[in-house]
Amino acid sequence: SGPRVEILDSATDVAERAAARIAAACAAPSPVLGLATGRTPLAVYAALRERIAPGGLRLDHATFFNLDEYAGLPPGHPASFASYMRRELFDPASVPEGRWHLPDGNGGPAEADGYEAAIAAAGGIGLQLLGIGRNGHVGFNEPGAAHDSRTRRVRLTEQTRQANAPDFPAGTPVPEHAVTMGIGTILEAREILLLATGAAKAEALAAALEGPVTEAVPASALQRHPRVTVLCDVAAGRNL
Ligand code: GLP
Repeated sequence: SGPRVEILDSATDVAERAAARIAAACAAPSPVLGLATGRTPLAVYAALRERIAPGGLRLDHATFFNLDEYAGLPPGHPASFASYMRRELFDPASVPEGRWHLPDGNGGPAEADGYEAAIAAAGGIGLQLLGIGRNGHVGFNEPGAAHDSRTRRVRLTEQTRQANAPDFPAGTPVPEHAVTMGIGTILEAREILLLATGAAKAEALAAALEGPVTEAVPASALQRHPRVTVLCDVAAGRNL
């Protein structure tokens, strides 16, 4: 048991395999998908866009919930994860507004609870796409996050803020806080697809999959989930 790991030749193969899995999930009548941002899934969304071409994959019957959003950014800020998703996948022609959701980065506990309620009302997440941070974070659950944590406001580590600084215009500081689904929220997805590409993820991936289950490595909580598939390239999988 434990996560099923597929080490593929390249990041392109990882993206293709992930897109195929998402497309298959979208063949269901009312799929509910959890999505991630960051650099890793960019190639997945590109592969999905190709499949959406006329007569191809349809996403308009699906519901989407993203993992996380920065706090403190005005609506429409280009570095927000909402802007990212609109650029990468959520063209109004393919997915109606209102069918894709992100946590309210500027909301309080009531909005965070509302996000949990919206996921539950949709029937829960069927397939959750995940990346992994260099420190083993998932979503914005940084080391120390409780494995039963729910959607809430969190403080970002310096390491994470530096890793994401290239997404912000020069001179614009990376926010210090975000709102993220909790580890407990993520573990309720019926199936999880964890993606890792590039050598910078090798250590975190090995710690998550083969190290102890510990709050010091948020992704290690995935060892306790019955249906996790890890898709990684050779570089990210080299310590496994
Ligand atoms: C980000 C996101 C995560 C993502 C991770 C890795 O900050 N909040 O959801 O999985 O860090 O990002 P990347 O794919 O850019 O390495």
